[in-house]
Amino acid sequence: MSCLSMPTLTRRAFLASAAAASASAVLPLHTRPSAAGIREFRLRAGPGRAQIAPEPYGQTAVWSYNDAVPGPEIRVRQGERVGIAVENALDEETTVHWHGVRVPNAMDGVPHLTQVPIAPGETFTYQFDGVDAGTFWYHPHQRSFEQVGRGLYGPLIVEEADPIQVDRDVTWVLSDWRLTNSAEMREDFGGRHDMMHNGRVGNTVTINGRVPDAFPVKKGERIRLRLINAANARIFGLEFRGHEPIVIALDGQPVAPHAPEGGMVVLGPAMRADLILDMTGDTGSRVTVTDRFYTGLEYRLVDLAYEKQPLRDKAPDWPLALPPNPLLEPDLAKAARHEVTFNGGMMGAMVMQEMAGSMGAEPSGRMGDMMGNMGSMMDMMHSGKIWFINGVAAQGHVMDPMLILEKDRSHVLAMTNATAWHHPMHLHGHSFRVISRNGEPTPHREWQDTVLMAPRERVEIAFVADNPGDWMFHCHVLEHQAAGMMGVIRVA
Ligand code: C2O
Ligand code: CU
Repeated sequence: MSCLSMPTLTRRAFLASAAAASASAVLPLHTRPSAAGIREFRLRAGPGRAQIAPEPYGQTAVWSYNDAVPGPEIRVRQGERVGIAVENALDEETTVHWHGVRVPNAMDGVPHLTQVPIAPGETFTYQFDGVDAGTFWYHPHQRSFEQVGRGLYGPLIVEEADPIQVDRDVTWVLSDWRLTNSAEMREDFGGRHDMMHNGRVGNTVTINGRVPDAFPVKKGERIRLRLINAANARIFGLEFRGHEPIVIALDGQPVAPHAPEGGMVVLGPAMRADLILDMTGDTGSRVTVTDRFYTGLEYRLVDLAYEKQPLRDKAPDWPLALPPNPLLEPDLAKAARHEVTFNGGMMGAMVMQEMAGSMGAEPSGRMGDMMGNMGSMMDMMHSGKIWFINGVAAQGHVMDPMLILEKDRSHVLAMTNATAWHHPMHLHGHSFRVISRNGEPTPHREWQDTVLMAPRERVEIAFVADNPGDWMFHCHVLEHQAAGMMGVIRVA
């Protein structure tokens, strides 16, 4: 179900397609240092066509930046100031959000909340500093379930001043598409069934905008693989058989180098991982990278195709750890604590009852209040409000803040997923430490901007609220976001 299955068709080699994509992506990007030392870029959002499915399928009508899917890789050095002029050649309003970058509030790209949306034909210039080195990405925040779903997204890489040594630095933007049998885009964006369940999961998975076949590698080579999940809803769980990937960064932020749990690199929508992948296979062999996240639906993503000549006999022993980014360490002893509960979706009432039951006879606190409101929630679900944060379903981006966080203070958000579904929860303007899951301290206390919560899971995150403004906090399954799973957190 995950790829258009036409095994008799030859697929174009991934190398050729990746090279073609990056050539077309780099040329129109047009970067030059200006007098003020600002790195300037231009993005043009508009309709286009892209070869998503392998030939002999035709091209698919998409919306894209600079006629490329994904959009051009914006690559700057840590500490550089970036200016990005975004021209809107769509028939509807748009904005760009710089996902994971700790930008000033006015540059965050949230329609109506932080800026007037960019009207068709208009241009808006974003400016911010690359404060953190790492793997980030950009995408619209206006009707993102459709604008992102049609192909508007691209990688944003901030290089360390002093990067670790590797042989190749490679970005894989992972995504999926819901295509017809003739590789046309299915027009069913924002469907109610997708909103109530796990979002608009596609049937065709791509790396850098193409259905991949083989990725050429050399024995002994060390690759820094930057994975970005740009899909609306698909969660990836990648296994590199016979290889031992080491995670060195999550959501752009350095983490103590470690092997992924159970050997599987799990990425919810919007999440990133930087891996160190040592090519330890045999020359001339092909090793399959498999996506095994959904039980029973595993599929071959791509093959690592070893060339005949090795680069070196065994993996290099260069250091793996990345230099830290300038993040403030939260003080847990002095932190203010806030409860956040997610409800709704298909089977939501059942999960609430079950979780309230396990908390004792008398459901108390937030959960108790919500049990009392369950009837009205059911009514709201019939009117298109499907997901709730602390009992509220968002409509649009402008709303009263669900939390007001004292600026420069440490805060803990204690989050409960009282639903039957996974949710990648994203906070704008900040990175946070994931400090516990179901009451157990996390082994790596990873910095993230998007944390994947399993059904019924409790997760605590901690951070210093050092970036003033009104920030979105939402599920990055874009259909869940559109159906209410969003709130505003004010830092003041
Ligand atoms: Cu990547 Cu509010 O988004
Ligand atoms: Cu969700």
